[in-house]
Amino acid sequence: MSAHRSRVRLDEDELHPSLRDPVLGSISFLNEVMSRYPGAVSFAPGAPNLAHLADADLSRHIETYLAHVGRTRGVGADRARRLLYEYGPTGGIINDLVAGALRADHAVAVLPDAVVVTVGAQEALLLVLRALFRAGTDELAVSSPCFVGITGAARLLDIALAPIAETPAGLDLDQLTAACARARRRGRRVRAVYVAPDYANPSGSRMSLRDRVRLLNLAERENLLVIEDNVYGFTAPVGEELPALKALDTAGRVVMVGTFAKVCLPGARVGFAVADQPVRNAAGTPRLLAADLTALKSMTTVNTSPICQAVIGGMLLEHGGSLAALGRQRAGVYHRNLALLLDALDRHVAPWAPATVRWNRPGGGFFVLMDLPVPADAALLERCATEYGVLWTPMAQFHLDGGGRHQLRLSCSYLTPELIEEGVARLARFLRSLPASESVGTNRTVEDVTR
Ligand SMILES: Cc1ncc(COP(=O)(O)O)c(C=O)c1O
Repeated sequence: MSAHRSRVRLDEDELHPSLRDPVLGSISFLNEVMSRYPGAVSFAPGAPNLAHLADADLSRHIETYLAHVGRTRGVGADRARRLLYEYGPTGGIINDLVAGALRADHAVAVLPDAVVVTVGAQEALLLVLRALFRAGTDELAVSSPCFVGITGAARLLDIALAPIAETPAGLDLDQLTAACARARRRGRRVRAVYVAPDYANPSGSRMSLRDRVRLLNLAERENLLVIEDNVYGFTAPVGEELPALKALDTAGRVVMVGTFAKVCLPGARVGFAVADQPVRNAAGTPRLLAADLTALKSMTTVNTSPICQAVIGGMLLEHGGSLAALGRQRAGVYHRNLALLLDALDRHVAPWAPATVRWNRPGGGFFVLMDLPVPADAALLERCATEYGVLWTPMAQFHLDGGGRHQLRLSCSYLTPELIEEGVARLARFLRSLPASESVGTNRTVEDVTR
């Protein structure tokens, strides 16, 4: 008979330190606030618009994909269907379609072997970081503010971050060069830089073609790898599209990460990494970095659901093998919503706003940043939700250098035109209730970001 034992209690200090990092709590904090205020208009989530999900026809997409498998691999219907019911290859089953879409949409010429299909872009980021970072002296350069998915993944893997300031034209490349030199002086090295070249989350910044080329030259000079995450490029206005870094990458320095969440379906959780860098081993056997990412994936998620891959594969096939073709259809809603949000701010807030309340005007993407005269923290968000019924995202969680404390992020992607109008009217009432002129101290402001 076993003696009664008191239940074990784990000491937080003995768990991984990332669990105490505020960045890990940021997403659940917002979900929790949203669930407590279901009647609030929420400018918080950067989720795709629900209108797009209405035209998803999962069975049709799967049948389209199965017909493609039958045609291209010469297998019968039963064999093709079984592909979806089994575990399947770790690296993915729609790699040919992803490689085809990259060629058609971005003139990125990679073979299917260089593609790893992942559980969202998030898994791709985690695998890429795990593969590229070996020593404790390696640093990952990121913009500050930065998407929490990459800073959080770096925390999980104990990878040191080198924050680089951001301007409306993206990363400050002079600061990146200085960070490489600083690391070298301390016996460290910046191993890679994470870049979101088009309408970054959260800042909305966009790199010019000239800066994209400068970044690649800098990467060559400093021997850096570039992790490109271009989730919002599809929202570029027609005629203003710029080439992906990977398309300009003649030296093979760019590892590209992508997602089908924003254009196809977020619930499918399908993304990818493109890693065509050759890896040498002592025996001289060649392989691609993609094979290493696949080996890592075999110990994380084993494989990406073949059923979900078939849905995405079918959607690509139904749009001529192009993600951009579907992206162009989707982009209309985001252009409209961004214009409505900026227009509502101009009508409801601009006429009376003090100089301490201002916002940027990105040309695409999902997000607008706003400066406040007071700290945009959890307590203020709570007050805004309770008294005015509107939610937003505090910007401090995206910063690595203590910045953004007086800033909030407004996302327009998820809302209907009516809710954008109603939400901005509520936000305006809340903003009017703030003192006009508390100092913004040393925080960077939207003007710094937009200029
Ligand atoms: C910049 C950026 N990268 C990656 C992702 C995550 O993509 P996924 O949902 O495919 O993991 C997001 C989602 O918001 C994002 O904003």
